[in-house]
Amino acid sequence: MEKKVTNFKSCLKAMPNILVSCRNEKGEDNALAVAYACNCSYDPPMVMVGIVPSRYSYHMVKETGVFVVNLVPEELKKEFVYLGSHSGRDEDKLKALDMKIGEGDKVNAPVLLDCPVNIECTVVDSIKTGSHEMFVGKVECVHAKEELIMEDGSIDYAKINLL
Ligand SMILES: Cc1cc2nc3c(=O)[nH]c(=O)nc-3n(C[C@H](O)[C@H](O)[C@H](O)COP(=O)(O)O)c2cc1C
Repeated sequence: MEKKVTNFKSCLKAMPNILVSCRNEKGEDNALAVAYACNCSYDPPMVMVGIVPSRYSYHMVKETGVFVVNLVPEELKKEFVYLGSHSGRDEDKLKALDMKIGEGDKVNAPVLLDCPVNIECTVVDSIKTGSHEMFVGKVECVHAKEELIMEDGSIDYAKINLL
């Protein structure tokens, strides 16, 4: 028999497993695991990520107005879990994990080179929805491993085993 659900928390599935990387004005790099994320416009291309204000990364994105969305392959599960359960407030997580860092082409934020796709974004708006602040990011540049790019310039997601 049908029953009413009483806990509505995070009821929309599936949620992606992404890593949002960012930098503060002091030049510290950080990344956190984010599941509250989606495309929110294709013209112009925009994505949205939700960050809880208590996260160390929140203040970084607020300060600089930029972030990078890194798609996570299955083999980076350990790193994803670590970045989602430790805080940059206490340690340099990226260094602790020995993750390879590149520079954004268009934004002043770190790019996680171990991830097959990196989406550089500039914050154009944000909405405090409740627990999270949803940052709307204009997609400035997308990096992907050469073998993942199809003839039309889009990404062949079938070739990536996403977490
Ligand atoms: C699977 C998973 C999904 C998560 N999704 C989010 C999210 O959407 N937004 C958020 O603010 N934190 C999310 N977190 C929690 C942060 O990643 C976590 O609190 C992290 O330690 C914050 O790091 P920071 O303090 O260095 O920013 C998630 C964690 C996990 C494991």
